[in-house]
Amino acid sequence: MNQLFRTKSLALLMEEMTGENRLRRVLGPVQLTSLGVGAIIGAGIFVATGSAAHNVAGPSLMISYVLAGVTCIFAALCYAEFASMVPVAGSAYTYAYATLGELFAWIIGWDLVLEYAVGSATVANGWSGYFQSVLAKFGIQLPAALSGPPMIYDTAAGQFVQTGGIVNLPAVLIVAIVTIVLVKGIQESARFNATMVGVKLAAVLFVILVGAFFVDPDNWTPFAPYGMTGVSFFGNTLFGQVNAGGQPVGMIAGAAIIFFAYIGFDSVSTHAEEAKNPKRDVPIGIIASLVICTVLYIAVVAVLTGMVRYDRISIDAGVSDAFKQAGLPWAEFIIASAGVAGITSVLLVLMLSAPRVFLAMARDGMVPRAFFADVHPTFRTPWKSTILVGVFVATMAGFLPLDALLHLTNIGTLFAFLIVCAAVLIMRQTNPAAERPFRAPFYPVVPILGILSCLLLMFSLPVENWYRLILWLALGLVLYFMYGHRHSALRKRDEAIAASGAPRRG
Ligand code: ALA
Repeated sequence: MNQLFRTKSLALLMEEMTGENRLRRVLGPVQLTSLGVGAIIGAGIFVATGSAAHNVAGPSLMISYVLAGVTCIFAALCYAEFASMVPVAGSAYTYAYATLGELFAWIIGWDLVLEYAVGSATVANGWSGYFQSVLAKFGIQLPAALSGPPMIYDTAAGQFVQTGGIVNLPAVLIVAIVTIVLVKGIQESARFNATMVGVKLAAVLFVILVGAFFVDPDNWTPFAPYGMTGVSFFGNTLFGQVNAGGQPVGMIAGAAIIFFAYIGFDSVSTHAEEAKNPKRDVPIGIIASLVICTVLYIAVVAVLTGMVRYDRISIDAGVSDAFKQAGLPWAEFIIASAGVAGITSVLLVLMLSAPRVFLAMARDGMVPRAFFADVHPTFRTPWKSTILVGVFVATMAGFLPLDALLHLTNIGTLFAFLIVCAAVLIMRQTNPAAERPFRAPFYPVVPILGILSCLLLMFSLPVENWYRLILWLALGLVLYFMYGHRHSALRKRDEAIAASGAPRRG
């Protein structure tokens, strides 16, 4: 039993930083913030916002964005505290190992893989939608069989229906291209990312500044057509309305969906090992990227719901379509093209993150080291797991619908944030004197509110997501007991120390 809750000491984590087979330290604060923004602004704002405004929250989606943003700020402050204390690859996985013990570390590592891999599949799916709308401008239409997954979830009917599609080919191809870029190396990837981030920020500013001239304040009434709540508990509605499919709707339910738009700031912490000055720059990257995006998002949603009445907002490409409805088809084209570029950079950062979580787990013996910790001799990237993650993401993106992928990503990520907030509470008790270059303010209010707000959003997601999360974690537990528990490097180290009669240190 003790082995399951064995924690990895801070001293040991720092000691490991000096070993061989490390990644290159090339990223400064601007690049880290840019990686954060690159991971954040994408399919969430460009794609999911339209259907959330139309079907779930109406203009009150503005407040949903505030609520989801505040939830993320609590989590970001906790991430930043840990990232400054333990600036190694692995993010929440490593933080859990240092505080809650090996079993929780495994659960959270497995959950992060879910977040980043399923999140990547969601983004590739959204990318495909925007890409196809750009192709349509040139009169190019893909055959139905190659343009989407075989099934989608019909919210109104509350069931899956066949689409006539077989595979989402553009989604599979973009995942393949991004995988190749990532195997080549982080420096090239960071440069590619910086260009994309510029394009996407320009598009978002364009939406806000040009769209503002087309706002009709009458469109903001009714402000909350679905109510200001929308919270359920395992399928039973606690507050608010449900739609025909039995799913919660309202402002809070909207926050649980568009929470996806904020995912990605946490991936900055997975780059700690590649940061030149991680103790200072990783907290800057996490918080700066989140704050920039929160402000931009609220402005975009205010403009979008002001330009078009909520029930006429496109559910596939809300932001670009609003400009078509405003009589500016050229603007629609520019935004859709920039959306394609912007969503590509999200995919890049999310797909970069999953292999790095595996890398950290492999170094601890939680997954096979020879495969997951093999850093390429020339490119210095974890190339084998990058390819494996690429194949997994391409398969899901090719065959599963966007909604199902998005909800699953959200619940997995909220769970990871919750654990990080809890880990900050625990670490302050167990290691009060440890050096904390960055401290989450207003302790313990921030981590406690972080936990509560994550729970609120988790409960506001349709109930199937809980079952899928539990299933994923159960599968993870089986793998842990079959592999990780037996091969744990910490366990072997402690056993070797015990056998030699020396006192245990780590
Ligand atoms: N936040 C990212 C997006 O919206 C995942 O695409």
